[in-house]
Amino acid sequence: MQFSERVFCGELSSEDIGRRVLLAGWVDAFRDHGGLLFIHLRDRSGIVQIVFSPDAAANDVCRQAALLRSEYCIAVSGDVRKRLAGTENPNIETGQIEVFVTELAVLSESDALPFSVSDKAMVAGALSVGSDHVAEDLRLQYRYLDIRRPAMRDNLMARHRIFRCVREFLDSRGFVEIETPVLTASTPEGARDYLVPSRIHPQNFYALPQSPQLFKQLLMIGGMERYFQLARCFRDEDLRPNRQPEFTQLDIEASFIDEEFLYELIEELTVRMFAIGGIDLPRPFARMTYTEAMDTTGSDRPDLRFGLRFVDVTDVFSETRYSIFRQILQRGGCIKGINIQGQSEKLSKNVLQNEYAREIAPSFGAKGMTWMRAEGGKLESNIVQFFSGQELAELKRLFAVSDGDVLILIADPSYAVATSALGQLRLHLADRLGLIPENSFYPVWITEFPLFEPTDEGGVTSSHHPFTAPDREDFDPKNLEELLSLKSRAYDLVMNGEELGGGSIRINNRDLQRKIFAALGLSEEETREKFGFFLRAFDFGAPPHGGLALGMDRTVSMILRTPSIREVIAFPKNRSAVCPLTGAPSAVKREQLAELGLLNLGGQEALPGTAEKEDPIDHLSWVSRIGISAAERPVMEEILAGAEALGRLAKEKAGSEEPIRTVTPVSNRMRPGTKEQRSELAESGKLLKSAPSVKGNYFKVASILE
Ligand code: AMO
Repeated sequence: MQFSERVFCGELSSEDIGRRVLLAGWVDAFRDHGGLLFIHLRDRSGIVQIVFSPDAAANDVCRQAALLRSEYCIAVSGDVRKRLAGTENPNIETGQIEVFVTELAVLSESDALPFSVSDKAMVAGALSVGSDHVAEDLRLQYRYLDIRRPAMRDNLMARHRIFRCVREFLDSRGFVEIETPVLTASTPEGARDYLVPSRIHPQNFYALPQSPQLFKQLLMIGGMERYFQLARCFRDEDLRPNRQPEFTQLDIEASFIDEEFLYELIEELTVRMFAIGGIDLPRPFARMTYTEAMDTTGSDRPDLRFGLRFVDVTDVFSETRYSIFRQILQRGGCIKGINIQGQSEKLSKNVLQNEYAREIAPSFGAKGMTWMRAEGGKLESNIVQFFSGQELAELKRLFAVSDGDVLILIADPSYAVATSALGQLRLHLADRLGLIPENSFYPVWITEFPLFEPTDEGGVTSSHHPFTAPDREDFDPKNLEELLSLKSRAYDLVMNGEELGGGSIRINNRDLQRKIFAALGLSEEETREKFGFFLRAFDFGAPPHGGLALGMDRTVSMILRTPSIREVIAFPKNRSAVCPLTGAPSAVKREQLAELGLLNLGGQEALPGTAEKEDPIDHLSWVSRIGISAAERPVMEEILAGAEALGRLAKEKAGSEEPIRTVTPVSNRMRPGTKEQRSELAESGKLLKSAPSVKGNYFKVASILE
């Protein structure tokens, strides 16, 4: 068979009827009807049904075909025929035709699969199977099989189309794609660096870039004027959903521009990227200052797809006799609330008091929560008797209350605590009550961020990074209050509560840049040591410039509406920053460390992971990055001892027929006294929805994960 003549399965149509074709791909599914064998043959373009029939194929071909199994890699030659009326398959694009095979070559066999790859039913009306139920670590361990699944394949193909759109658009606007180093020096973005030891310079390290920030600014000083890069960035930070240790940014920088240039550019680009997913974004994008976002949603990445905006009612209670509010206001606090319109049926007194006030609000950091329900023109709750008629009337006016509404108020001496807790309640309620419209997208620029944030040590740190221009230059770098009052020329692009990107107009004046480093508490010497090369470049005619970086994994994931960014990355790390496919990160041999000069760093003993016998708690603290403190050691020791006992039990039982079912009672070891609770999700069985298999109230874990 000549591969040069190969045609693609998914591209065949009724127009090819009567044609002899050569196809190659994988056995997606098969049905053996005695004399007739039907196979779904899949390649990257799609699926076509091939038929082995004694009428068309020689006996030995049919015999060989009977041995085919799922995911065998094969090539066939055959004739395209129209399917008999009534046997068409609407589940596949090529469902009107089938290919009667005359020749077969088995190119490569396949073992039994760890999970099903096929998701297209072979006959009309049958349910398609998916692999939603497969544990993610198993999918990642066999990612190459997972990528054969049409859903993953489509994600990667769409990602490619989005990246191509980015390149074409930016090229049309005069931007040049330039690569910057991956082995480099530290680039400050607020996370820890991944370090790479140098063999040639023992005990010296490269850092992997947290972003190409310094280099893109140097490219502007180098006169490139408009730069972009689809850049890989590396950040050793706390694990969260939608974060990966290694991710891709669309990094952009331009000279002789202002904020408006970037807003226009990024809005046009974003609209084009979302159009690839069939999403029509409205332009211009909304804009909101940081202060407004915090005041009305409690978040600097507000989800604006629904209302529930905060109303400040601090002034309503300035004279209140309700002692809790009075004390909070005496301590300089604030009271904010939301009106959940027309939801009193779903938010009963019981739900509001026992779930929200007692459990949910405190879990978001609030010390208390006040609720009221509007009924018969009146506000009702367990505490309305403490409020004056005037206070209640003011609440009704400010929240525009009607019957059926529910008010939730959070009062706290700290503005940050009150807004953060109410912000999380806002999201929780919107989700629970189904207030977030499906398939809606609300982009918004957040502007006028504070330039600095206070640190616990009494200093400041940059809200974005130290190269962001302040709104004014005449400040005293030693005056903390003044520093905290400065605003930055930074902007974030936020959509549906997610930060897609961020950037700023930069400092292009050496003295101002030095002043910022001084404000951050860096000595002249430290500044010279870390950023001397960078500051030196500002001595040679640095142009005004600015830019932005879009998180491409997040952007693609939002466009394709995937539940996690891992669905749009070919080989992501799992939730524990581990790659289940390659096993990275993994220990290395002592010889390798010796070669790199790492066995005796700074006179200390070997690094964790290299000692003959290491302290298990140090190791756990190191690998999990949770930093177990001295006070927590005894608790951890106890937990590890328990785990060891469990391990011994497992060993003893190994080999016996009985599966081990050891269920550790739930308890919060870090907060003794906290009572275990059964959640509604557990009671209803929803908690176990994704379990590969269930026994009573427990998951059965696939042996491969044990
Ligand atoms: P910033 O740190 O805001 O800005 O990063 C820009 C965007 O990158 C994405 N992002 C991530 N995506 C996945 N996993 C992560 N761990 C992760 N961290 C960040 C986010 C974020 O909005 N140099 C500046 C940009 C500039 O000023 O031009 C920077 O890196 O979507």
